[in-house]
Formats: sequence, structure tokens, C-alpha cells
Amino acid sequence: MHLLFASCACALLITALLRQVSGLETVIGLYGETLEIPCNKGAVKAEDVVMTKWKYDKGDGLSGHLLVKQKNQNVSISATDEYKGRVSLAANSGLLLSAAKLTDQRTFTCMVVASADITEYPVTVVVYKTPAGLEISDKAEELEIGKLTKLGTCVAQDANPAANITWLKNNKPLVADGKGISIQASVLVDPVTGLSTTSSILEYSAEKEDTDAQFTCSTQHTVGAEQVSSPVTFTITYSTENIVLQVIAQDPLVEGDNVTLKCVADGNPAPTSFNFHLKGELVKVEDADTHTITNVSRDTTGEYKCSLIDNPTMEASKDITVNYLDINLSPSGNIIKNAGEALDVTLQIDASGESKVSWTKDNVKLDKEPKFTKVTYSDSGLYECEVTMGLLSRKAAFDLVVEDVSEELRAVAGAPVIRQLSKQRGEDGQHKVLICEAEGSPKPAVSWSINGTSLDESPFVNGKITHKITVVPTANLTVSCTVSNEFGVDTRAINVSSLFEEVRMDKQDQSDDSDQTKLVVGVVVGLLVATVVIGLAYLVYMKKSKQGSWKTGEKENGSSEEEKKLEEKVEENSQKAEV
Ligand SMILES: *[C@@H]1O[C@H](CO)[C@@H](O)[C@H](O)[C@H]1NC(C)=O
Ligand SMILES: *[C@@H]1O[C@H](CO)[C@@H](O)[C@H](O)[C@H]1NC(C)=O
Ligand SMILES: *[C@@H]1O[C@H](CO)[C@@H](O)[C@H](O)[C@H]1NC(C)=O
Ligand SMILES: *[C@@H]1O[C@H](CO)[C@@H](O)[C@H](O)[C@H]1NC(C)=O
Repeated sequence: MHLLFASCACALLITALLRQVSGLETVIGLYGETLEIPCNKGAVKAEDVVMTKWKYDKGDGLSGHLLVKQKNQNVSISATDEYKGRVSLAANSGLLLSAAKLTDQRTFTCMVVASADITEYPVTVVVYKTPAGLEISDKAEELEIGKLTKLGTCVAQDANPAANITWLKNNKPLVADGKGISIQASVLVDPVTGLSTTSSILEYSAEKEDTDAQFTCSTQHTVGAEQVSSPVTFTITYSTENIVLQVIAQDPLVEGDNVTLKCVADGNPAPTSFNFHLKGELVKVEDADTHTITNVSRDTTGEYKCSLIDNPTMEASKDITVNYLDINLSPSGNIIKNAGEALDVTLQIDASGESKVSWTKDNVKLDKEPKFTKVTYSDSGLYECEVTMGLLSRKAAFDLVVEDVSEELRAVAGAPVIRQLSKQRGEDGQHKVLICEAEGSPKPAVSWSINGTSLDESPFVNGKITHKITVVPTANLTVSCTVSNEFGVDTRAINVSSLFEEVRMDKQDQSDDSDQTKLVVGVVVGLLVATVVIGLAYLVYMKKSKQGSWKTGEKENGSSEEEKKLEEKVEENSQKAEV
């Protein structure tokens, strides 16, 4: 309790003159203290005073006598009843009244006789009392948010006039608003003392921020300092408004992991027990807010919920997805195929989400999944696929070796051999194409002794490779082609004549050649025809002459001799033609 008077011991001194009402002075006394009621306030000089007399108004026009002082005599006290033993005269003629009571609130009159004048100075007395103390009682145990609750009663005991009570929250006045704040005050007057006891009841609807708020009540009395009660605080309670299901798991969550479900709910006091709904199964958890699922599998995927045991409508849910990525690559491991055979590649993916596939061959990225309708040597290599889904990834591989089916090539497999080195004139006559055909395994590397424009290299099929370059020779050259692999080297050379000369000469040669050929053929045919004609004529002539002169035996020999000669001649001629 805060005390209000600067000095209680000197209450006598602080008695104050407030005002004059209808010509009357009013003097305020404090309950239980000695009150000095002033007389004439120096209007009459003390040495002029012959007699001073104090009386009081008893009501009904009656006066009660208190005391009299005549000049050069002692005070004569005549007070009776309630004033007996309570009155005395002050040096300045004021009346001292001890133990002021509410019944003392009446008019006291000082009568002064000076020379021939008799003057009366009536003074009205008012007795105030500040409340004995301010206390909050009937304090609520806790305040529930949003619910108008009687917070407490503030009592200001035994005051006069009755105390006005103000409620404060964190030192700020609360004003009744008909909704969240309601204040009802009542005053009870003590029939014996006449003192008033004020009670004020505060009904209050708490808000969340009222946790730790300090509630006080105070009065500001007509006299004295403000009185303030001891502060009180309250536990602010509220039921759960928000509930959240948290999933505590690794990311990504995969099979074999553990998952912890945590149910987080607000409220004061916060709930301590929960129901977890695990895909149809109900698990009740007391004095804890978590439930752990161990060794999850893809079947764990689904919707999970938690709710309050005492209020199942407060419920939260969350989806759990267990990620999985299974792949199956066929073929796998080491695969040996004969060139020309088909190879079926299948990659099966069983995943919980969308996945991406990438392929490499001998660590070089491929644009798409490999497909082999007919495998060739160049298809040989290590094929790897990587399937990714988010942070998960899986790898698989097969190593393809393509072998040649031909025994002949298998025999030569090893050192490379140049099968043919040839030249062609370019279609425009401005360049020459040199073609180097080689066999060998593994695939031989091809190089030329001169710089030409590489045209192309055929695929390496069945151990054969063909390499072409174009050249524009300005002089007669000897060009060599070299093929090599780990088993050996082979080289061949070809003479290439200067393009410009050769163009001219080749043309000449060509026309010469064909003309000569035609010529030779013409000579042979001519000789053959001539021989046949001569021969026939000779045969006819011989027949005729034999019939005439020669004998039978000779005839055969002679004719055979002649035929021999003829044959020799024909032979001779044809030989000449061939030369
Ligand atoms: C986890 O579950 C799988 C079947 O889903 C089972 O094969 C495996 O043994 C379990 N592991 C542990 C550690 O319990
Ligand atoms: C081929 O050209 C390069 C420069 O491009 C040159 O250094 C080299 O000697 C040339 N080789 C032949 C055989 O002409
Ligand atoms: C090139 O060879 C041809 C024969 O094939 C010959 O007639 C010619 O004179 C030669 N040219 C040079 C520049 O050696
Ligand atoms: C190229 O011509 C030279 C003479 O110039 C000859 O000795 C050589 O045998 C020829 N080579 C070929 C492959 O025809």
C-alpha cells in the first residue's frame, strides 16, 4: 500500500483551508487525526480580544458549547457527549479537535468579543479518509483467450468520500467497452463509522499478448497521492488453434530410411498427447509428440495424419513419398557378338517419379539409347547408362565386343595389309582421287605421304577399311599409303603424274590406244578374211588338178601337206596381228 501523506505525524499542520461557502470557511480534517479549526484568522487583534468561545451546530437550530476563554483566565471546557475530552484551544484561538470522525462534519463557530464588538466566525468541517488499502481479491486462476472472465475484485476499504477505482493493465487504464472489458463498482457504507468501501469487479476477455501483463487497480483520492494495488499477472490459456504435422526425414527419402512424424500444436497449456493416423492404423502417443516409422519401403508412401485426442477435429496431414529407383539393363556384363548380328538393348526403369536417362560409350556421351540392328566393329565399346531421379541415380553397363565371322579375316587379324592402292581422275579433271584399301584387325590407322584433302573413311566392316584423299599434283609424284595397327605396318606407293601434262597425254594416249586397238583388230580381221578366201580358192584349185593328174595315195599326203602349210601361214598372220 502506498501511503499518501507527506507526514502523518504533522497532520495537524496540513489541515487546509479550501474555500468559503456562503460566507463560511471550510476546513478539511483527516479521519482519526487532530483537526485545527481556525478562528477569525487574525481579523481581530489578539490583545483586543476579551473573550473567545467555541460552539457547534447540533442541528435543529441548537448549539452545543465546547469551551470559553476569557482574557487573563484559563480555558474553561464545557464540552459534553462526543466532544468530551477531545477539544482544546490553540494559541491562536483555533479549536483543536482530536480523533476526527465523520460525525464531526458540521459547522463549528468561534465567537469573539472585542471591546464592544461580538463577531462570529462559523467554519464548516469536512473529514476525509483515504482508503485503508487497495487489494485485488477473488483473482482468477487463469484467463482464457477470448472468454470474458472475472479477473478479480479490487477493494478500497473505508474511505470518505467513497473511492473511485480505476483498473489498469500495464499502467494503462482499462475502460469498459461492453465487449472485452466490463467494470462494475459498488459502495458499501459502514453503519458505525460512515466510511465507504468501494468494490470494483473487472471482467476481462484476454488476448494472447496478455501473458505476463500486469493488472493493477488504483484510486486517486481527493487528498493525498494516488494509491495503487500490488500487480497481479495471469496464466493466459487458449485451446489449440493450429496443428501441424511435421515429417522429419532424409532428403531424398529412400527405402530403408526412418521417418519421424511430429505433431506440433499450439495452445496453453499445449496438448501433450496425440493420435497418429498411419494409413488406417491409429497410434496413440501420450506425453510425447512424435512417432517414428523405421525401415520405410515404397509401400510406406501415402497420407499421414495427427490429431488431438480430446478434439479429433483438430487434425493435420502430410503426404510421405518414399523414393525408389530400380533399373534393369539387358544385356549386361561382357557381350561378344559376331559382326552383322542384332543386339537388343532394353533398359527397364521402375521409379517413384520421373527419371532421366543418359548413355555413354567409352565415356563419350551418346545422343540416344544405343540400338543395334547389325553390330559392326565400330560398335565395340563399353556402354554405360545412368538413370537419375532428383538426387537418386543408378548406373548399369555392358561391354560389347564385335568379332568377325569370317575365318579368312580372323586369320589375317593382326597386321594390316593394303589390298589395293589406286588412283582415279576427278570428274572435273582438276584433281585426282587416291584410294587406299586395307584389311586388318583391330582397325588400322591410315596415313599418306603427302597432304591431301581427306575425302572419307569407310566404316570398318568385316576388317576392311577404305580411305580416300584428293590431290592436285603439280609435278610427277610417288605417293605412299601406310596402314598400321598394334600388330604391324604395311606401305604401298603409287606414281601420280603431274595433272596438267597427264590430262593432255592421257587424252592422247587414250585416243591412240583405242585407235591402235581398232587398227590391230582391223588388221587381224582383214588377214583372217584374206586367209580364208585364199585357202578356199586353193582347196578348190587343188581338187580340180588332183582329179586331173594326181593318184589316190599321193592325193591325201599332198593335200595334208598343203593344209599344214596353210595353217602355218594363218598362224603366222594372226601372230603378226597380235604383236
Ligand atoms: C527392411 O525392410 C525390408 C523389407 O521391406 C527387409 O527386407 C529388411 O530386412 C528390413 N531391414 C531391417 C534393417 O529391418
Ligand atoms: C603437310 O602440310 C604441313 C603443314 O600443313 C607441312 O608441315 C608438311 O611438311 C606437309 N607434308 C608433306 C608431306 O607435304
Ligand atoms: C612426267 O612423266 C611423264 C611420263 O609419265 C613424262 O613424259 C614427263 O616428262 C614427266 N614430267 C616431268 C616434269 O618429269
Ligand atoms: C614409278 O616410276 C619410277 C620411275 O620414274 C619406277 O622406277 C617405279 O617402279 C614406279 N613405281 C610404280 C609403283 O609404278
